[in-house]
Amino acid sequence: MIPVENKKVVIVGASSGIGKALSHMFSDKGAIVYLVSRTKEKLEAVQKELKGKSYVFTMDMLNDSSVEETFEKIGHFDYLSISAVADETKLMSPIKSMSNTIAHRGMEKFWGTFNVTRAASKYINQDGAIVVTSSISIYRPSKNGASIMNAASAAVATYSKSLALEIAPVRVNIIAPGVVGTGVWTEQEKESYKEWGKNTLPIKHLGKPEELAYAYYSTLTNPYMTGSIISVDGGLTMI
Ligand SMILES: NC(=O)c1ccc[n+]([C@@H]2O[C@H](COP(=O)([O-])OP(=O)(O)OC[C@H]3O[C@@H](n4cnc5c(N)ncnc54)[C@H](OP(=O)(O)O)[C@@H]3O)[C@@H](O)[C@H]2O)c1
Repeated sequence: MIPVENKKVVIVGASSGIGKALSHMFSDKGAIVYLVSRTKEKLEAVQKELKGKSYVFTMDMLNDSSVEETFEKIGHFDYLSISAVADETKLMSPIKSMSNTIAHRGMEKFWGTFNVTRAASKYINQDGAIVVTSSISIYRPSKNGASIMNAASAAVATYSKSLALEIAPVRVNIIAPGVVGTGVWTEQEKESYKEWGKNTLPIKHLGKPEELAYAYYSTLTNPYMTGSIISVDGGLTMI
């Protein structure tokens, strides 16, 4: 295993789901974790659970000056993970009746990824790495109003490959999650996806945040990976 002790790891979206699981994983292995999202209380609750050294930074990834200030404060660092999004499933709408507001908000995940990686590129160490979050929907588009959500994930993936070329030797990889039991779903939706996972997916269960976090950890620490899109979907694309 590549040692991560005392590596500085910035996790945007650390207060919930995949980002929270990844924060635990790096902290358990001795990394210094920078927990980032919009809500101080949620981040402090995660911080209390961590064994190692960590810092809390509140930042809205859609506010470019807040993003620039945060990275200026953090300074040089080694690894960056972005798994932040808000209201994603609430912004679904059929194309014919989609308002401009919904259409533009649907691209927030892309703009957040852009703002964060632009600021981070100035401070990341040359042997460092970035992992961003797309979705399995880039291969298997979900329907029922998900067109802009799917397009945002495709934009994240293609932008991040260009970024990988532009800021090399810093590595940039992309994770394409399938359905995972995280904060993007209501408790009721999670329950119904649990049943769906058990009955439909080849691996017979809904994805867990920790199962995704393994993939994020491994792409960040593997020195020979860059520009890759990794599907972690329980076999969803095969069925
Ligand atoms: N879960 C799935 O089934 C699934 C499937 C495919 C793709 N994905 C992708 O996975 C990512 C979401 O990860 P997750 O499932 O772990 O979601 P999650 O549990 O809802 O976590 C989202 C995180 O983003 C933070 N956040 C939201 N808006 C933010 C902003 N403007 N600035 C900074 N932080 C912000 C939230 O914290 P605060 O509220 O404190 O800001 C939270 O920590 C998205 O890219 C989504 O498209 C998820």
